[in-house]
Amino acid sequence: MFKGMTWQRTVLLLGIVLTMLIALLVGYAMQRSFNEGTTTTSGKALIGGPFELVDHTGATRTAADFRGQHMLIYFGFTFCPDICPTELAKVAAAIDMLPENANVTPVFITIDPERDGVEEVRSYAKAFHPRMVGLTGTPERIAQAAKAYRVYYAKNTSSDSTEYLMDHSSIIYFMDPAGDYLDHFTMESTSEEIAGRVREEL
Ligand code: NI
Repeated sequence: MFKGMTWQRTVLLLGIVLTMLIALLVGYAMQRSFNEGTTTTSGKALIGGPFELVDHTGATRTAADFRGQHMLIYFGFTFCPDICPTELAKVAAAIDMLPENANVTPVFITIDPERDGVEEVRSYAKAFHPRMVGLTGTPERIAQAAKAYRVYYAKNTSSDSTEYLMDHSSIIYFMDPAGDYLDHFTMESTSEEIAGRVREEL
């Protein structure tokens, strides 16, 4: 093969190269089947899960308390200057487009528990819709709930003022009566689109 190489060394080298190639191929095939397995067999996205928070009346509320009703859940904070009010108004408008007996509960969960206590989430949620449930909790419990819904949030300390803003993802989650994820809506979704999608499930 190469000058000065014995045939034994050439065979050994070829053997090593072949083994490495096979290992790479097997690894690739395993990775592929693993990926396919997780996307095709799970079916439902892994969004949602148990939480234990405090509602706008001061009562403890767990995810199980909402079984039997659809939910439209939004994570935000009451000091939010723009996006949260827009999105919650959209949820409220969508609720009003549904039949009156539709069992769909709009839920606001704060990601700023330091400032949003029971009273803050109560007045905030009720400003958008009389049936909206406001939820707060300890920072740990809020973190658990946000993690379950894959919500990102972080204190924005870039401004010099003592007031701070929260960076957070803005997604409206649509959950079924078993507490499982059905769909989600973004800032591009309209109230009409949300109401239309919800109606399909009622
Ligand atoms: Ni916001």
